[in-house]
Parts: sequence; C-alpha cells; structure tokens
Amino acid sequence: MEIIKEVRVLEEKLKEIRSAGKTIGFTPTMGALHDGHLSLVSRSVEENDVSVCSIFVNPTQFNEKSDLDKYPKTLDADSAMLEKASVDFLFFPSPKEIYPNGESYEVDLPLDGMDEVLEGEFRPGHFKGVIQVVKRLLEITNPNHLYMGQKDFQQFSLIHAMITHFQMPTTLVVCPIKREPNGVAMSSRNVRLSKKGKLLASIIHWTLAESKKRLKNNTVKEVETWALENLTTEWCKVEYFKIVDGYTLKDIIDKKDHDYLVASLAVWIEDVRLIDNMTLKQ
Ligand code: PAF
Repeated sequence: MEIIKEVRVLEEKLKEIRSAGKTIGFTPTMGALHDGHLSLVSRSVEENDVSVCSIFVNPTQFNEKSDLDKYPKTLDADSAMLEKASVDFLFFPSPKEIYPNGESYEVDLPLDGMDEVLEGEFRPGHFKGVIQVVKRLLEITNPNHLYMGQKDFQQFSLIHAMITHFQMPTTLVVCPIKREPNGVAMSSRNVRLSKKGKLLASIIHWTLAESKKRLKNNTVKEVETWALENLTTEWCKVEYFKIVDGYTLKDIIDKKDHDYLVASLAVWIEDVRLIDNMTLKQ
C-alpha cells in the first residue's frame, strides 16, 4: 500500500490506472477505523482492480471546534488495517491540499431541506461540509464505485442526490451496518462507552427491530410514539426518533403512499451521541 499526501500525485497515479482500463473503488473515511469501515474497504477490494481509501478529518463538517480537536487520530493502526485489507492507496491529505482556496467554498446543490431534518436539525451545516468534502474527494479520485455505510443513512442519501444532480460517473455502493453481537451499531464513538453503557445501548437495535414489526399493524405516528417512550429512560436521552420517506427524508402522513420507509434516531448514553437506523419497508 502506498501512502499519498498530495492531490497531484494521487491524480497522476489514478489517471494511469484509468487509462489502463482498470476500475477504481473509493472509500472516504475520517480514520479511527473499525470493522464497519473495513467491511466497506473489503467490498471495494473485492469489486475493483484498484482501491483507494482516504483519511481526512474534514474541518468543515464539525459544528464545534472542540469536537474537531477531540476527534481520535490513529494513523498507524489505521494504515496497518488498510494494508492488511489489501488497499492500494491510502490518501492522507492536509487541509491545505483539500481546500487550497480556503474552506468557505460551498457546493450549489438543491436539497429541498434534506440536509435540515433528522441529523441536520441538531448539527446545522454538518451536511454542507460533508457534501463539500465528498465532492472534492470524488473530483480527485473519480472512482467507478464509491463505498459508504448504511449507518449514516442521511449522509449516503445526500451523497446519492449529489451524484445524481451533477451526473457524476460514479456508482454509490451502500454497505449494511456492522453490529456488535448485542446489536449495537459499530462506531468510532463506541470506545467511549463503558461496559455497562454498551449493554444498555442494545435497546437501540431492539427498538428499531420491534418498530419494524409494529409498523405492520400500527400507523407511523403510533410506532414513533411507542419507540420514543421505549427508548427514553434515566440513562438514555432521545434526541429524535423518526420514520421518514427513504428517498426524500420527509415526514409520513400515510404509510400506504410510500414504498421506502426508514426509521432513524439519535440518542445519548453516558454522554456519547449514538445514531442508528433501519429500513422498515422497501
Ligand atoms: O462518514 C464519514 O466518516 C465522513 O462524513 C466522510 C464521508 C468521510 C466525509 O468526511
């Protein structure tokens, strides 16, 4: 595996690979890799001639500077994992490489409020930053396939909208959520949970699975109300639990009018913010 820090160098290498008729798979990350990331990377290695993984802690998607400063940096462990997974190029740029003209550039993309609901309501501006960096990374890598996780449901929905809008020549591949044996979705944040916290967090996946069952005989509103009550305890604070249209992320009035429904949530356990989701109908 080659570690590349400069945009120009990566662009040249990938240009050669493309002109030799080889396919390129790309997985963007912010590092602190776990098995969830590795499942994306392994799929890329399986499905493409050449695989690129980026590690870039993108400053423009953090609402709070302290959150950015606290973000775990584990480059040595990350690059060992990627090497073992047979990744060809690890792209590890500096902010100056990614934003040579400053960070204020925003992508002009009509989103019809998709970036302002769910996570967007609690993390204003977050998705503008995500779209900005993924667009830049796609312009640099120009991959055949882009690998993202189902765990960040709203993120991949917005990136899908961006790829469609700009008619980018890349296919988005969404990989299933990797879960711990007790159902907790894998996340870089889980290391901050105690043993007890990890156990308590199993209520999240259980509630999602039960919501899927309940939706058969109940309205969306009834299931949302039940799930909110079920999740809310002394040790678990719910930020939101919503069942939305999977394409538009809009609220549901009558479930019969929608063929793709997703339940999405964010909760706090032990001062750790956890997100999760489940497709209830598709
Ligand atoms: O999901 C992430 O880790 C980030 O949002 C991404 C897609 C790498 C963009 O910075």
